[in-house]
Amino acid sequence: MIDRYAVIGRPINHTKSPLIHGLFAQASGQQLEYTAIEGSLDAFEAQVLQFRREGGQGMNITAPFKLRAFELADRRSDRAQLARAANALKFEGGHIVAENFDGIGLLRDIEENLGQPLRDRRVLVLGAGGAVRGALLPFLQADPAELVIANRDMAKALALRNELEHPRLRISRYEELEGQAFDIVVNATSASLSAELPPLPADALGQARLAYELAYGKGLTPFLRLAREQGVARLADGVGMLVEQAAEAFAWWRGVRPDTRSVIDQLTIALE
Ligand code: ATR
Repeated sequence: MIDRYAVIGRPINHTKSPLIHGLFAQASGQQLEYTAIEGSLDAFEAQVLQFRREGGQGMNITAPFKLRAFELADRRSDRAQLARAANALKFEGGHIVAENFDGIGLLRDIEENLGQPLRDRRVLVLGAGGAVRGALLPFLQADPAELVIANRDMAKALALRNELEHPRLRISRYEELEGQAFDIVVNATSASLSAELPPLPADALGQARLAYELAYGKGLTPFLRLAREQGVARLADGVGMLVEQAAEAFAWWRGVRPDTRSVIDQLTIALE
């Protein structure tokens, strides 16, 4: 029987995961089937268990089920634990194992594909939601000079910092960013989904080498537009992160790390 994998989310019709994993499988000579499942708000857990019963070996999880997938698992990686969310599951010897590769995928894209190692850099991350939770641990392990989390709701940022006290992790209000310089700025808010701009001070991006927008396929978002106006040399959207997190899951399931470059090239949409 062919090994089966799937992505589950709601809505799921725009997902690129079957395409990405299909390309990985082809390029690495692996036999597998990867499908997309429209999740049910009432029956998500039953759908996962059914997929496992039918011979499924692993799943990717997307919105809005990452937290429920994490809770359904009976083994969890540290990354998933801090994120309190799973974006990948593996069915292994009667266990459901939860992982979260979103943060490591983002980090790999920034460091390897975009050539901007975080080490000794000043890094600003906008937002304190699920996406940021997933990124914090890998980001801190990359040894930045400072990692600043800015969010409108300070209670949320504070809760995050209290969970992960680290000498180089700092939280900030947007207005306190005035006059500070950062090398790498990541927009991990959901502002771009509604074409909004996080309330950044006018000069906040002026010194940055890289402005990274997590939302993929939204073109030149207000954040990227501002970065371009302020002369940031490199603008990126989340396409590389999408492909890199998929590669991590593929390697976790199959024991083979696929090449990501050509897949990223195929999925890249011009920002203009
Ligand atoms: P995700 O899982 O995608 O991170 P989330 O958990 O709903 O989504 O978090 C959304 C994040 O985007 C939050 O940090 C939110 O900021 P607040 O906590 O201050 O509300 C942030 N966000 C959404 N719209 C925003 C906007 N227009 N400006 C700045 N931040 C915004």
